[in-house]
Amino acid sequence: VKVGVLFGGMSVEHEVSIISALQAIHALNRDKYEPVPIYIDKQGHWYTGEGLMDIDNYKQLPELLKKSEQVILHTNQEGKHLLINAASGLFRKKIIDEIHVAFPVTHGTYGEDGSLQGWLDLNKIPYVGCDVLSSAVGMDKIMMKTIVRGAGLPVIDYVWFYSKRWFDAQQECVELVEQRLGYPVIVKPANLGSSVGIQKADDREELVEAIESASSYSPRIIVEKMVTNLKEVNCSVIGDYEHVEASECEEVLKSDEILSYQDKYMNQAAKGMGGTSRIIPAEIGEETTRRVQELAKQTFLELGCSGVSRIDFLIDQNTNSVYINEINTIPGSLSFYLWQPKGKDFEQLTDDLIQLALK
Ligand code: DAL
Ligand code: MG
Repeated sequence: VKVGVLFGGMSVEHEVSIISALQAIHALNRDKYEPVPIYIDKQGHWYTGEGLMDIDNYKQLPELLKKSEQVILHTNQEGKHLLINAASGLFRKKIIDEIHVAFPVTHGTYGEDGSLQGWLDLNKIPYVGCDVLSSAVGMDKIMMKTIVRGAGLPVIDYVWFYSKRWFDAQQECVELVEQRLGYPVIVKPANLGSSVGIQKADDREELVEAIESASSYSPRIIVEKMVTNLKEVNCSVIGDYEHVEASECEEVLKSDEILSYQDKYMNQAAKGMGGTSRIIPAEIGEETTRRVQELAKQTFLELGCSGVSRIDFLIDQNTNSVYINEINTIPGSLSFYLWQPKGKDFEQLTDDLIQLALK
């Protein structure tokens, strides 16, 4: 089976996606699967070629792309999914490769938000992971919380507004936050990953600054009440509407009050995927672990997910309350490290995901 692994993309998480995808490619069981790397550059052009499977080559990206083939993916009348040399076009098509299933390992905008998934649907290409709806809802912090809260699952108090409203009626927005939430709060753009544009605010001055910053990233802003004595715990779920399974839980350690992009990817890049320091299993006791795993599965199902997602939780250590914070429908390195302790290695994980896509 030829697996078209899609990665990179028009997203602030472009580089992270390259790491995730190459790890996934190298984890594939080569007796069953042949990886076809499909790298999407920051302008949205697609490339394939052997060289794209070696991380070192990305240091000289222009050279790498010159040696690779710029392609378009096209499903022909016989239903074959062909990678065609982009310059040759559909009439004089020069076929470079063929894929049987697509495996998006694209984090963030255009890759994890349903856009790519919609494109794959239109081209009748089976693919790993969430469909359009669950991807789109999962990527949007406001939509996600609205649905999860509507299902009676616990989320931290929040308010949201359009960035435009902020520019028109700042006083109203500030009052909304102060009356409904008080301080401290966390201000986030509605639909970016990897902590981009996220800021904490302890008072009105910081709130104004945080909203100004967040609104440069997104037309919609969410402001959440901040848990001060906090533990962050993540749990991954694999499956679909027929059957789901929850992974081990991880506890995420952080140097700052908010887990920043810096924490996630820069500080300890040498430490393997994500570079975040983590404790696995999370030290939260058996009962809370089970609660987190149960809530993770419920969230996955409420949102209509499939494939593997990672659900991130906040635990208030003063009250031991557990809150669903966000979902990553294409988690970093597809959260293989949460499945290893359960006896599912990365190879098995990718196998399970491809089989789910083909079922
Ligand atoms: N969005 C990144 C890759 C993650 O949280 O897994
Ligand atoms: Mg994300």
